[in-house]
Amino acid sequence: MEEVLAATDRVIDAHKADREALVEILREVNDENGHLTRDDLQRIAERTNLPLSEVYSVASFYSLISLEPLGRHVIRLCQDAPCHVAGGREVREALEHELGIPFGETTLDEQWSLLTTSCIGACAVGPVMMVDNDIFGNLTPEKAREIIARYREADVQDVTPTPQGG
Ligand code: FES
Repeated sequence: MEEVLAATDRVIDAHKADREALVEILREVNDENGHLTRDDLQRIAERTNLPLSEVYSVASFYSLISLEPLGRHVIRLCQDAPCHVAGGREVREALEHELGIPFGETTLDEQWSLLTTSCIGACAVGPVMMVDNDIFGNLTPEKAREIIARYREADVQDVTPTPQGG
């Protein structure tokens, strides 16, 4: 258990167990481990002297923090109105079709997770999605499929694709 929580402790140490840094701690542990476990939440609560319920509620509020294991790549499609009216629904359907899973799920090979997010501040180029930490805008169903294909190809070649906005 101590070994499993070593990365979590490192992040907490880096923030001096400061409860004011709770969101940063949660995000950094999430980035480190891919998601947060109940043990992570408990350790963060103990060391920051916050109630577990508060730590859990903050962790569940942020869409960039996951309480479940996710795929190698995580797609977060903006579901707010400006992106939706710009064609987000068609992009959503194309992504589900291409990956063979509904939103909220991870593929069986653990390569892809499909999640929604609220506005990420790129409404001018909606519909918008994030793939891991990269933002892609002006999406169409075809463009969304191309982006997935590019990531698949990059995984084979171990090359990270360049993010693009238009
Ligand atoms: S509404 Fe989608 S990025 Fe703002």
